[in-house]
Amino acid sequence: MGNRAIELTEIPASYRIPAEAYYDEAWLEKEKRNIFGRSWLYAGLESELPEPGCYKTVSVGLDNLIVVQDGEGELNAFHNICRHRGTRLVSAEGKCASFVCPYHKWGWGLDGRLRGIPKNEQFEDLDPAELGLHKASIVNWMGLLFVHSDETPSLSFEQWSLGLADELSVFKVDELQVLRQESFTFDANWKLYIENHVDWLHLWYVHPKTLGSLTHDHDQVMHFGSSFVSYDRVKPKYAEAAAAANPLPELPHLKAEDQRFSETGAHFLFPNLPIFTGSSFFAITELVPLSPSKTQMNVTLLGLPGGNVDIFMKGFKEITKDEDATIIASIQENVRSTRYKVGPIAHTYEKAISNFHDHYLDLIEG
Ligand code: FES
Ligand SMILES: [Fe+2]
Repeated sequence: MGNRAIELTEIPASYRIPAEAYYDEAWLEKEKRNIFGRSWLYAGLESELPEPGCYKTVSVGLDNLIVVQDGEGELNAFHNICRHRGTRLVSAEGKCASFVCPYHKWGWGLDGRLRGIPKNEQFEDLDPAELGLHKASIVNWMGLLFVHSDETPSLSFEQWSLGLADELSVFKVDELQVLRQESFTFDANWKLYIENHVDWLHLWYVHPKTLGSLTHDHDQVMHFGSSFVSYDRVKPKYAEAAAAANPLPELPHLKAEDQRFSETGAHFLFPNLPIFTGSSFFAITELVPLSPSKTQMNVTLLGLPGGNVDIFMKGFKEITKDEDATIIASIQENVRSTRYKVGPIAHTYEKAISNFHDHYLDLIEG
């Protein structure tokens, strides 16, 4: 394993996010401002913006952004807010030559520069150079787009994703195709899903059948700051059957790489992006909080064509939806209980929860 991983054994594991963070509306507002508003967030695929003028809108905490390919083929991110009186400029996705506000028709180029103001004699003292669209930040990582609400974030995407982006670059996501995009909702706070995603302890008990062919050896887990990478080997006696039952074509470029990349991988990019990998796929599962107790998961499955995607997705959702999302919903039912308090947590197998809390609390408290 790489030597960039951080050793966490000196820090005691603890569960520190308070109960109200799992049910309180005002807390979710604070998360939108301080967690989502200060993070690099997944914003979709480069292939969604194939030509100049193609744009899509994304929410980043309290902010609405436009992501657009400009006339030079560059990707830009702007705040989706009119500099006159704050109207939302565009919604959903589309293609345009400029952004024109529907209210009083101020217009901006795809580079965000103010181009025109009707009845401009009404605005004599105005300096167009000062009224460009507010800039946000965008990065294209292997065809995956990440945005940040600030024009100059305190951490670059490279710093934010630390070793995770390097580690997962062998998957060459930009050479893969979108095999399926699907969303589902579940009745639990988004953080409970993250905590479950990084929890090694539950593998034996929540997934005895679906992941029962894996060893659950804990020797291929790496923490990179707030990110997390892990791989779980198949038990030798199941290896042949597992390979034969794989419904998707293998990714040939993984053959030359370390064996771990072909095992079952579960990774995490703070704050809301679990990623799953295997010998034949790369799956992004973005979590969007709809309310403190309801979360949407947007699954994007990338791989190579020619397999049976329905069978793959059935197995994938059995794990993520029927098993994981169901067990955490039964915690959600108890977070307002007078007896709700997290007890001792496992010093190794639940350590990553503690790590998640560290980074979460750093940000939420500003
Ligand atoms: S609010 Fe946009 S032009 Fe007036
Ligand atoms: Fe799980």
